[in-house]
Amino acid sequence: MVKVAVLGAAGGIGQPLSLLLKLNPQVDELALFDVVNVPGVGADLSHINSDSKTESFLPADREDKTALAKALTGADVVIIPAGVPRKPGMTRDDLFNINASIVRGLAEGIAENCPKAFSLIISNPVNSTVPIVVETLKQKGVYDPKRVFGVTTLDIVRANTFIAQLYPEETKPTDFNVNVIGGHSGETIVPLYSVGKTADYYKKLSEEQQKALIKRVQFGGDEVVQAKNGAGSATLSMAYAGYRLAESILKAVKGESGIVECTFLNLDSGIKGAAEAKKLVNGLDYFSLPVELSKEGIHEVKYDILDKISTDEKALLKVAIEQLEKNVEKGVAFANK
Ligand code: NAD
Ligand code: LMR
Repeated sequence: MVKVAVLGAAGGIGQPLSLLLKLNPQVDELALFDVVNVPGVGADLSHINSDSKTESFLPADREDKTALAKALTGADVVIIPAGVPRKPGMTRDDLFNINASIVRGLAEGIAENCPKAFSLIISNPVNSTVPIVVETLKQKGVYDPKRVFGVTTLDIVRANTFIAQLYPEETKPTDFNVNVIGGHSGETIVPLYSVGKTADYYKKLSEEQQKALIKRVQFGGDEVVQAKNGAGSATLSMAYAGYRLAESILKAVKGESGIVECTFLNLDSGIKGAAEAKKLVNGLDYFSLPVELSKEGIHEVKYDILDKISTDEKALLKVAIEQLEKNVEKGVAFANK
């Protein structure tokens, strides 16, 4: 029996993400939690004739912790898209004041009700909310580094799409799986086009085109925020991306081997390859890198990719590291104050 809980299930990401999960035959129970509108979303999804059971959980008031406890009890995977999205002119860090408290409250719920679940954090700013979850789980004595994932998959999805758009005659987006490392905001996002299948296509671009492509991946979120013009940020592409990571984890849990995904993780963690990775990123405790998944979660950090990158990518990495350090510190300080 596999139970997946979505926290923030009535939101722009939560609804399509829950729909995708409802269609996955590996999910037996889908628990939807939100502070508004979730009974309607649950009733709607529950009419779909897939085999999983859908239940929705709405707290009676701000003090009510029982709804969250019920949603989380027995959960194997918890996905968190709860929190406010950006409006034009805002950075992801501008969301910190509201989303940090939301995420900490939900992480406490995970610690108390399903400490062994895989936690996938979508809420922004990811560079800070992941450290908040980690610190909260540590405080409760239930932290397992293999089980906490910062969701950066949308950056990979965008990197694949954007390079394919430059070669419409020769390539399709599904031809690629670009490693995007670092963090999830602006210049902390570092797509590694010079490694793997994209290398030859990337090389053929002019320097100007290369720079524009990197910038488009780094600021892809802004493209959507501006197009939505005050009505939020990426939701459908994010639901797809979050689902992709969840699906990969579910496949690994079922015993499939060799599955690799990029995720923002704690490198100060004893996971195979994490200490080596940490040295290569200037001692940072958190970074997004490709990881191999297993039944237990993150099995191994594929740090060797850092040896293969170009000089230009090394320069991007330097900028990313400087910015990430502050974002991570902010999350850790918030959780421990
Ligand atoms: P949204 O406002 O449409 O939905 C958020 C939902 O969270 C709402 O339904 C709200 O009621 C709910 N919520 C608020 N507080 C809650 C709590 N304490 N418990 C449970 N639910 C709660 O926003 P959205 O567009 O779905 O975006 C959600 C978050 O995801 C934002 O922070 C956004 O920046 C982030 N995001 C991250 C990525 C990424 O790549 N990691 C991509 C897109 C968006
Ligand atoms: C994204 O990359 O689309 C998300 O992080 C949402 C945002 O604020 O841009």
